[in-house]
Amino acid sequence: MGYNIAIDGPAGAGKSTIAKLVAKEKGYIYVDTGAMYRGMAIYFLEKNISPEDTETIAADCKNVKVTIGYEEGGQQVYLNGENITGKLREEAVGNMASKISAIPAVREALLGLQRDLAKTKDVVMDGRDIGTCVLPDADVKVFLTASVQTRAKRRFDELTEKGETCDLAEIEKDIEERDRRDMTREIAPLRQAEDATLVDSSDMTIPEVVAAITALCH
Ligand code: C5P
Repeated sequence: MGYNIAIDGPAGAGKSTIAKLVAKEKGYIYVDTGAMYRGMAIYFLEKNISPEDTETIAADCKNVKVTIGYEEGGQQVYLNGENITGKLREEAVGNMASKISAIPAVREALLGLQRDLAKTKDVVMDGRDIGTCVLPDADVKVFLTASVQTRAKRRFDELTEKGETCDLAEIEKDIEERDRRDMTREIAPLRQAEDATLVDSSDMTIPEVVAAITALCH
């Protein structure tokens, strides 16, 4: 069993930024489970299957193979052999991922892959259900959160920096909707594991959050 650090939390809490830095500092592998759900989402988007069509999606899951590769540019995600890393961050992909992640067959299909990675390697894994479901025996569990306003503002700044026009109120609404979906789904809902440490990053800098998490590792 590798050394496992689980970081869960709502959309936009900065999990991937923090998890990447913690992984770098510890020399561990960073596993972005959201990217796996996004990979699945691309498959169903490209096939034009509606997220409401849960029966078709459940039956088709066996034909989807999402794999992760580690190359110099960081984590690469493959969908049935094709590198789809460049498409993962699209808004439509995030929305589709948020919807299909409530379907049990989708979660089941990714669970084995996530556990296998953690079994053989030292990992920092981020997601929504890592501490509660995927790695209940993780060595360190963190629930990383921030206020809705803070998360929306960060996302707004990120998009503006990329030259995209966006609306802060709309981003806030979208984040709230995504939180609601993640927290109220029946299977593996987003919640803080009982033995997780709560880190609220609203008023913390990135280095402060990284230091708080690495201090928990022994
Ligand atoms: O974290 P990210 O925004 O990339 O995740 C995309 C979607 O995948 C989330 O909105 C969430 O619904 C889902 N997800 C999940 N469980 C995880 C990781 C992500 O349900 N462990």
